[in-house]
Amino acid sequence: MIKVGMLGFGTVGSGFYEILKKSQARLQKKYSDSVEVCGVMVRSVDKYADLAKEVLVTDSLEKLLESKPDIVIEATGGVDGPYEMAVKVISSGIHYVTANKDLIAEKGKELRKLAEDNKVRLLYEASVAGGIPVLKPIRECLTGNTISSLAGIINGTSNYILSCMYDDGSDFADVLKTAQDLGYAEADPTSDVDGLDAGRKLAIMSSLAYGVDVDWKNIKIEGIRGVSSSDIEFAKSIGYKVKLLAVSLDTENGVYAAVTPCFVNSTSYFGITDNVFNAVMIDADAVGTLVFTGRGAGALPTGSSVYSDLEDVLETVVFGKSRDNELHIGGDAKAVLNEYPISSEWIVSYDESLDSLLTDQLINSFEDVGLVMKKNPSWKKVYFKTGHISELALKDRIRKIAGEQAGKVKIYQVYE
Ligand code: NDP
Ligand code: HSE
Repeated sequence: MIKVGMLGFGTVGSGFYEILKKSQARLQKKYSDSVEVCGVMVRSVDKYADLAKEVLVTDSLEKLLESKPDIVIEATGGVDGPYEMAVKVISSGIHYVTANKDLIAEKGKELRKLAEDNKVRLLYEASVAGGIPVLKPIRECLTGNTISSLAGIINGTSNYILSCMYDDGSDFADVLKTAQDLGYAEADPTSDVDGLDAGRKLAIMSSLAYGVDVDWKNIKIEGIRGVSSSDIEFAKSIGYKVKLLAVSLDTENGVYAAVTPCFVNSTSYFGITDNVFNAVMIDADAVGTLVFTGRGAGALPTGSSVYSDLEDVLETVVFGKSRDNELHIGGDAKAVLNEYPISSEWIVSYDESLDSLLTDQLINSFEDVGLVMKKNPSWKKVYFKTGHISELALKDRIRKIAGEQAGKVKIYQVYE
């Protein structure tokens, strides 16, 4: 019998467990052995009385390790506690699969080294984009390519909130509560709505894609709290939607990486990615553009990614097939750039209370690059869309004209 130990049995852990149970006959056929959960570690054992009728449920890692797992699956959350657990498990020579992006974004480098030293596999497909296979394609299917850029909607909770606001003008707080009830949001949902979750995922993907170490803390991150209902109304009126996009580009000067709310055409790949769905677009030299889309959060979708890592590790446990943990990883840290290096269209908006002389000057200053303007009395805001201009030049023009009031001028990139 191949034994699986589990850390955490919430949304993701229970989804994984359901898939594992359902897969028994196939596993037996493929590996000529059964794959069973030998124990589950949680914090409050009392909450899991039903599960305890089927397997060992404990709040002690030592106890779980006494049941001699071959593989440990982690789906708890946070960094410090999970890091200690990961170190203990991996140092005991046990393969490790995790859904925890906070852990991988913060401690991935150390853990990969530890796994390598202990000759065990460390996999974390579920840490990015929930149920969508993204890391494995980058790691295994695109090795003949140089990847130049990644872009994605990679936070299901914020996409769900923006979709509901677009569809029926729902209230931010009400929709966040529903996303929490559906198991999409993090234990602390500020990391969803403030863009940190997407930032961590972008760092994990980019590190893998470009073979360099991208520190998520250097990424420019802006969440969705500042997106107003009038921003969404304006976007709708010109055929766009507001989406929280995570974008990175590998350039000669460093990796540009940012998470910001952007305008996207409603009929584009990102424009049709609504609710809890995620989409990741990869540009690579040999294959061209690839788009992966599907459910970015939730029990079974995320459980499916965890399960796929489990089968990957089973290949090692049963057949001795061993692969490098990270074929691409191991490069040096690269500078992280915060200004979009390609010229782009932009949405500029400001409150009607901004000095009227300034607003005329602002609008006039973009006439050379072309602009679309909209104003609606109920918005109490002025919006215009510029033609192509670089982020640096855009900000420079705004600063020169609005001076101290530049902070009152909001910009959105139009992502094409
Ligand atoms: P939940 O809050 O639903 O479940 C967490 C589980 O972990 C609970 O069983 C909890 O036990 C247990 N747990 C928490 N801390 C500890 C600890 N220190 N030691 C032992 N057990 C602990 O979380 P999710 O399932 O939603 O998320 C789990 C991980 O997966 C997170 O890292 C999350 O970011 C990631 N993830 C989540 C996705 C989702 O759709 N929800 C998608 C992709 C990744 P108890 O109930 O006793 O507190
Ligand atoms: N809270 C995350 C999200 C879960 O909403 O995308 C999936 O990583």
